Amino acid sequence: MLPFRFAKDYLLYRLRSFKLHGVHSPFIFKLYHQVIQHDGTYYTYNEVEELRQNLLQDARVLQVTDFGAGPIGGNKKERSVKEIARTSAKPVKYGQLLYRLVNHFQPEVIFDLGTSLGITTAYMAEARKMAKFYTFEGCPAIAAVARENLKQLGLRHVQLVQGNLDDTLPAQVKKVEKLDFVFFDGNHRYEPTMRYFNTCLAKHHEYSVFVIDDIYWSAEMKKAWQEIKQHPKVLQTVDLFFVGLVFFRTSQPKEHFTLYF
Ligand SMILES: C[S@@+](CC[C@H](N)C(=O)[O-])C[C@H]1O[C@@H](n2cnc3c(N)ncnc32)[C@H](O)[C@@H]1O
Repeated sequence: MLPFRFAKDYLLYRLRSFKLHGVHSPFIFKLYHQVIQHDGTYYTYNEVEELRQNLLQDARVLQVTDFGAGPIGGNKKERSVKEIARTSAKPVKYGQLLYRLVNHFQPEVIFDLGTSLGITTAYMAEARKMAKFYTFEGCPAIAAVARENLKQLGLRHVQLVQGNLDDTLPAQVKKVEKLDFVFFDGNHRYEPTMRYFNTCLAKHHEYSVFVIDDIYWSAEMKKAWQEIKQHPKVLQTVDLFFVGLVFFRTSQPKEHFTLYF
């Protein structure tokens, strides 16, 4: 169920969102029908959801080093794997959306900011095994469990970059030629979100896809989303409430969509 604190923003989103009536962009129209609203199933979905179910039962307690805004309800030094799986991982609907987005765009270089236990990482990595895939996690204990999970699923092409994104992201951006797909789910504060976004912009191109998580999570994230939409390099955005999609297509007019998902 939707937490109460989202009620007002969600209601406004539902009033703005539409199911493509009046959308004249063929790119967005196709994306919505073929990818966003696709309700078929893929074999991978079961594999990743089985991993999630196992993690939801995992009582191991980790010493957690906090780097980000942390979960709602506060930051604790000790957290069980099952609690992290329950509170930090994107829900199934969004993990599967990210799978379909990666599957559709077939990016060659993927950055995943905020691995946590690797559930959403696994969804994206399963969709593109030929990609150069970098996932970033600051907490050593969480990163160790994510490595186990990715190994168990045989996702050997994923490189987990451990350390504070403030340092690891600029260093890794310098090492890649381009960034085709970036999922921003690390530090949900305004300043780091904008800083990571601008760092990644250095290697974006016409066909890059950036996905910003939790764009209504807090006043800071709402401010970051508004600023991203206004950025001169950003040309199309799609607000799906819990995630925002960002495109840079110069062949299409600058336009912001709010679509029901
Ligand atoms: C919301 S969780 C990511 C959930 C994951 N994308 C999923 O859906 O399964 C955010 C993760 O980012 C990590 N993180 C936050 N800020 C960070 C930073 N500055 N450097 C490195 N990792 C960070 C946290 O430790 C946490 O594990």
